[in-house]
Amino acid sequence: MSLSNLAPIQELYVSHESALKLKTEAGTLPSWDLTARQICDLELLMNGGFNPLKGFLGQADYESVVETMRLADGALWPIPVTLDVSEAFAATVEPGQDIALRDPEGVILAILSVSDKYLPNKPREAEMVFGADDLAHPAVNYLHHVAGPVYLGGPITGIQQPVHYDFKGRRDTPNELRAFFRKMGWRRVVAFQTRNPLHRAHQELTFRAAREAQANLLIHPVVGMTKPGDVDHFTRVRCYEAVLDQYPSSTTSMSLLNLAMRMAGPREAVWHGLIRRNHGCTHFIVGRDHAGPGKNSAGQDFYGPYDAQVLFKEHEAEIGLEMVDFKHMVYVQEKAQYYPANEVPDGSTVLDISGTELRRRLREGIEIPEWFSFPQVVAELRRTSPARAKQGFTVFFTGLSGSGKSTIANALMVKLMEMGGRPVTLLDGDVVRKHLSSELGFSKEHRDINIKRIGYVASEITKNGGIALCAPIAPYTATRRAVREMIEQYGAFVEVHVATSIEECERRDRKGLYKLAREGKIKEFTGISDPYEAPSKAELVVDTENVDVDHCAHQVVLKLEGMGLIRN
Ligand code: PPS
Repeated sequence: MSLSNLAPIQELYVSHESALKLKTEAGTLPSWDLTARQICDLELLMNGGFNPLKGFLGQADYESVVETMRLADGALWPIPVTLDVSEAFAATVEPGQDIALRDPEGVILAILSVSDKYLPNKPREAEMVFGADDLAHPAVNYLHHVAGPVYLGGPITGIQQPVHYDFKGRRDTPNELRAFFRKMGWRRVVAFQTRNPLHRAHQELTFRAAREAQANLLIHPVVGMTKPGDVDHFTRVRCYEAVLDQYPSSTTSMSLLNLAMRMAGPREAVWHGLIRRNHGCTHFIVGRDHAGPGKNSAGQDFYGPYDAQVLFKEHEAEIGLEMVDFKHMVYVQEKAQYYPANEVPDGSTVLDISGTELRRRLREGIEIPEWFSFPQVVAELRRTSPARAKQGFTVFFTGLSGSGKSTIANALMVKLMEMGGRPVTLLDGDVVRKHLSSELGFSKEHRDINIKRIGYVASEITKNGGIALCAPIAPYTATRRAVREMIEQYGAFVEVHVATSIEECERRDRKGLYKLAREGKIKEFTGISDPYEAPSKAELVVDTENVDVDHCAHQVVLKLEGMGLIRN
């Protein structure tokens, strides 16, 4: 048997002395402040996790990866690892130049020798890599709304690893893991990729997979970036540590992987395989809907449930890892143990709790049985996600100027304060523009900055257990979505569309602004000379034309009760 999985893998770092020297020299180079996702990518480029890549993809490799899942030289590589930058920065750089890549604190992590500067075809990238140019896919949304418009490519010279302050002892480079396997005499290692807390069924299936493959087990959770809305990695790692004690000692180990997932389903499974091969593993568990992004905008799954397994199997030899089938495990009550769903003895009672049901139980503070999870895991999850009625949340009103957002928000604030329990903050459009955004106007760019500031403040309030009521116009869907993602990390986001028609707002014209807008005295006025993109999936739509303010506020209260956010 080949032991190539245990030999050291090539890294892109220079020696300590050269790094010190380069760091001083690089001080004068044009420099790019890396985004959170780019830092994850850079770390795996530098430490060999993305072997055979030697840097961010140039145009020929990029196009080839998008079209064929292969680099220009034919090597299998399914996901574009690209350095997206702003137009303004791109204008200062030409191929042939070196640039310094810095972390958010300004530390130089690497030098990129720019070989290519190019404009990606984003719709094509979305279509080919993620299966559809559909903004419901988190990575497609990222591609269009977060990633910069220009890509820079070229080889990387690694100066230092990104700094982590958390779980340092649990993070390993590919070479550190390979050395660990060598030291332990682990020749065959099954990797288990996960972005979720582990429960008893996972423990059973991973252990079975390792036994079937006659291998040791590596729990290899992703702690870089996962799907928006996932349980944060701090909580997850504490949960994993609790589960680790349940495996027979010295059969299993855990290591954290600073990968930024793309949720690309089948292509992502192949990518995960290549990354695990680079980390010295020999087997990889691929399950149903591996790295699935959820539903598309038509409410259907992006990929078939077994597409990832099929694509992986097709490329197994090239990936260099054996695929291990992930068995759906269920609990058989009479036997008081777990079985693969297809091996359940006839006539027995099968118990199972879906992910959705688990979230409901956590949200509503309902019991989670011991057959399902380990008490320490449940305690950790409850600690970070208390029942919804105890968490912070944000109500985000959106609608035209004069639609009644502020009036309803004010009435709602009073009702919530009357109930008590949590502090309430009202971030009204006018108030925000006075205190937070006084320098901003009404161009698209300025409106986006304004709404993101509101979102940031609301997310902090939500994180700290308070209630934030926001009432800006917030005319753009993409910006509202960005705010939703910011807030949903910490608590519920309740979007309320105050759907008063433009005719009615203009008829009321409480501030006399519509008249001025019609006369052209106010430019870029929402609904008149600037667009308002009405939400299609707001949690609640209120009609102020036939219903009074008090009742509109009451409708919101009922919605909040229905969502378990408040208890009367
Ligand atoms: S945005 O688009 O969400 O950033 O707008 P917002 O911060 O809510 O500010 C809206 C209030 O500013 C006044 N105003 C305008 N609104 C829209 N378009 C233009 N050009 C404009 N100029 C001034 C208007 O009074 C809005 O107040 P509300 O409370 O919505 O009526």
